[in-house]
Amino acid sequence: MIAIKDLVKVYTTKHKQVVGVDHVSLTINKGEIFGIVGYSGAGKSTLLRCINLLERPTSGNVIIDGVDLTSLNEKELRQARLKIGMIFQHFHLVSSKTVFENIAFALKAAKKSKSEIEKRVTELLEMVGLLDKRDAYPSQLSGGQKQRVGIARALANEPSVLLCDEATSALDPSTTKSILSLLKKINRELGITIVLITHEMEVVKDICDRIAVMQDGKVIELGTVYEIFTNPKEELTKSFIESVIQFDLPEHLLQKQTGTIVKIQFKGEIAEQAVVSDMLQTFKVRGNILHGKIEYIQDLPLGIFIMELTGDPQEVQKAIEYISHRTSGLEVIGSAA
Ligand SMILES: Nc1ncnc2c1ncn2[C@@H]1O[C@H](COP(=O)(O)OP(=O)(O)OP(=O)(O)O)[C@@H](O)[C@H]1O
Ligand SMILES: [Mg+2]
Repeated sequence: MIAIKDLVKVYTTKHKQVVGVDHVSLTINKGEIFGIVGYSGAGKSTLLRCINLLERPTSGNVIIDGVDLTSLNEKELRQARLKIGMIFQHFHLVSSKTVFENIAFALKAAKKSKSEIEKRVTELLEMVGLLDKRDAYPSQLSGGQKQRVGIARALANEPSVLLCDEATSALDPSTTKSILSLLKKINRELGITIVLITHEMEVVKDICDRIAVMQDGKVIELGTVYEIFTNPKEELTKSFIESVIQFDLPEHLLQKQTGTIVKIQFKGEIAEQAVVSDMLQTFKVRGNILHGKIEYIQDLPLGIFIMELTGDPQEVQKAIEYISHRTSGLEVIGSAA
């Protein structure tokens, strides 16, 4: 478990002070994939770098598995850091070293013998699917392959925590998917806690258990991915989610309508129930679906439909009330004058 307690990081430059992280407290559970999202400058990297004390907090504590890292001396901290792997957006591989040597480097730092290193690097290359690239140089690898080397290096000393700073931001969508599934596999099979920073909600949706949304150095919202996607509270969170569940009806369609246009959200089990067809059978209204989508987030459905309801105004009103009571939300987004 990682406990971050009232963490503050202030950068002091020549002319001014910049607050990178502003009184953040949160707990990351053992074995979870925890996402940190936010726009550029929100303090995500600073917070992540404070977790392994790459950046020393101005105040506050970072406690990993009961050990307060801020209380350790340099030698103890080096030892503790071996159990915290890190991967980066631009991979940070040593270009003059082969794949094997890049990974072996992390093991040499932990003072492993030559035969142990040989055995462990082979295991790691197998895990990330790069056995055939053992002697290649980074310049001979694709972005996805480079990140696999980065992951193997980060896992070399069997860490309990893996920190990922925009690990997929430099990759195309299909390579991103394959790296995310590798991270998921590592999380499941090795039980490693993963903390990942991203500005892509697709990434969060695919692999995170919980997320924290950051703005101006603070955590402004925190919850399970499903909670955040189905019930975002902050404007910033809503804007992030819209990038995944983009759901505006084209303006020209809105103008053409003759009935009442409603946007209905279905969550969890409700998404699988026949609420709409029940409504159409109960009231004298016609329903015309204009737009619809069901997303699966952590294997739970989240459906959104935009419908036009026509008929006697009183019946339409009753139908709206009926649906409001039986779904997670109904919003009237337009009606004919
Ligand atoms: N070494 C530094 N010296 C001074 N200010 C810094 C330093 N590192 C970060 N900052 C400032 O701290 C704030 C948070 O930066 P940080 O890099 O953590 O943001 P971020 O959320 O990771 O952004 P991005 O998405 O662009 O990577 C910013 O205002 C940044 O300018
Ligand atoms: Mg950053």
